[in-house]
Amino acid sequence: MWSPESTIQRIEVGDKSYKETTCDVLIIGAGGAGLRAAIESHDKGAKTLILCKSLLGKAHTVMAEGGVAAALGDVDPQDNWKVHFSDTIVEGQYLSNWRMAEIFSKEAIERVYELERYGALFDRTDEGKIMQRAFGAHTYRRLCHIGDRTGLELIRTLQDQVLNRAIPFMDEVAVTRIFKDPQGGFASGAFGIDIRSGGLVLFRCKALILATGGCGKVYQVTSNSYESTGDGIALAYGAGAELMDMEMVQFHPTGMIYPVGVRGMLVTEAVRGEGGVLTNVMGERFMQRYSPKRMELAARDVVARATYAEITEGRGTPSGGVYLDITHKGADFIKKKLPSMYDQFLEFAGIDITKEKMEVAPTVHYHMGGIRVDPETGETAVRGLYAAGEVACGLHGANRLGGNSLSDILVFGKRAGGAAAEYARKIELPKIADSDIAEETSRILTPFAVAEGTNPFHLKEEIAEAMWKHVGIVRNERELTLGLQAIDEIGEKATRAQAKGVRAYNQSWLDSLQVWDMIRACRVIISSALERKESRGAHTRSDYPAKDDAHWLVNIITKDKQGSMSHEFIPVPRPPPELAALIKPE
Ligand code: FUM
Repeated sequence: MWSPESTIQRIEVGDKSYKETTCDVLIIGAGGAGLRAAIESHDKGAKTLILCKSLLGKAHTVMAEGGVAAALGDVDPQDNWKVHFSDTIVEGQYLSNWRMAEIFSKEAIERVYELERYGALFDRTDEGKIMQRAFGAHTYRRLCHIGDRTGLELIRTLQDQVLNRAIPFMDEVAVTRIFKDPQGGFASGAFGIDIRSGGLVLFRCKALILATGGCGKVYQVTSNSYESTGDGIALAYGAGAELMDMEMVQFHPTGMIYPVGVRGMLVTEAVRGEGGVLTNVMGERFMQRYSPKRMELAARDVVARATYAEITEGRGTPSGGVYLDITHKGADFIKKKLPSMYDQFLEFAGIDITKEKMEVAPTVHYHMGGIRVDPETGETAVRGLYAAGEVACGLHGANRLGGNSLSDILVFGKRAGGAAAEYARKIELPKIADSDIAEETSRILTPFAVAEGTNPFHLKEEIAEAMWKHVGIVRNERELTLGLQAIDEIGEKATRAQAKGVRAYNQSWLDSLQVWDMIRACRVIISSALERKESRGAHTRSDYPAKDDAHWLVNIITKDKQGSMSHEFIPVPRPPPELAALIKPE
């Protein structure tokens, strides 16, 4: 059995040293996409190594609580991949890549059955089929689930598969740069920090898969955890890959609002899927005014905007939210269907949701924008560099349907893992220039040499405040411009970000580097939002309130051009007639 330890070498260059490891396929990120990619790459015979910035099992995947969307038709037999395809395209407001949506809606079904074979314990119908629940803007009940802990079960199951196969992983490793072969220009490795020791680590490989998740932490109120700082976006951009539709940030309509320590924590859409209703402070079921047909199960962008409007127009609760009520379903039902929500509110807010209403408000949950990839393989514009999961872009368009992310990571994680392994099989180990290693070593050690510098943790907070204030649910030119100015000012201060103390487990050091990833992600989000002069899906401009298909049925591509950020506008590829015929507008 191959082990990465057998390849480890210690390299000393002057007063600098690093450890070097070699593999075929390096997977950066250990959420659902990374784990599924690793299983496929390993099963295809590639020497596969997984890197994880925190601890294995701690991933934003667990925050997709309510279910994994796949048209099994177990509860509503009329459902099939064609309807799922149509829902994904229509609710993505026609920005989705049709081929990704086709692959996705067809293959999601088999990926769910496979997950079951791997050992996931789905809730069951009376006939013993996989139970499926309703979610916003899905035509049929489509979300296969395990109570309200679906993401957690998905991670547990995939992790078991990884451990059973003895696929090696290294946790607490922060990757700071992707290297490319100096001659060929294809991906050749990665560099970073072993957080436990503070030592530097070099990974030589034939192919890399970015599965780093999103960048929710660039916002103050988010369901995302500490790790979601946009590393993958920054790494890909730095390596010359293309980013796409970065303005599309998803606000989930229901996050907790108090106590302050859990502000933003997800309140699953499954509460509404199981019959929960939203009311304002006057007791009015306000979705009647915004989406009388779908009510609380309208698309996420619609419910988030409605909730935001109720709060900002003075019809919110005294704590600044709206009410979400499921008490009418009774205690037994709630504890069975929504056990995590029951525990979460009782433990954190002292609220018994079987007897009392919840108070909720929008929270940043997901990034539809990300790295542009080939629909079939997940390869980026850099040969040998792949991306899958939230960090990749193309499937969800301007608005992701709840539950589509869990099936996305299974479908495209598997595809990226297979394609990377196949590619790695055909090539020799590429080279990494010594000068690139030296340059990155100096860059990442710089914060220790800063005297009288700024505290990077405070800079991260400033970023999150600025994005929340200026780049929120409803945007306009003035606010976006102020947001960009604020990020530029923080960028100035970040040049003096200081790391103090020893290198092992040094959070200020990691923060001083991650702050640059966040700045990079924010600049692209804001500049793309400034470019898109219309309102579509999650991107709402008060100065351009209408959807403008004549000009903006385009994907906004962002890339680095000799040190400057450039945007390109590419018409969204049109589906072939037989697929176009399946698309049924709402
Ligand atoms: O509300 C939720 O359970 C979230 C699901 C998702 O984001 O897919």
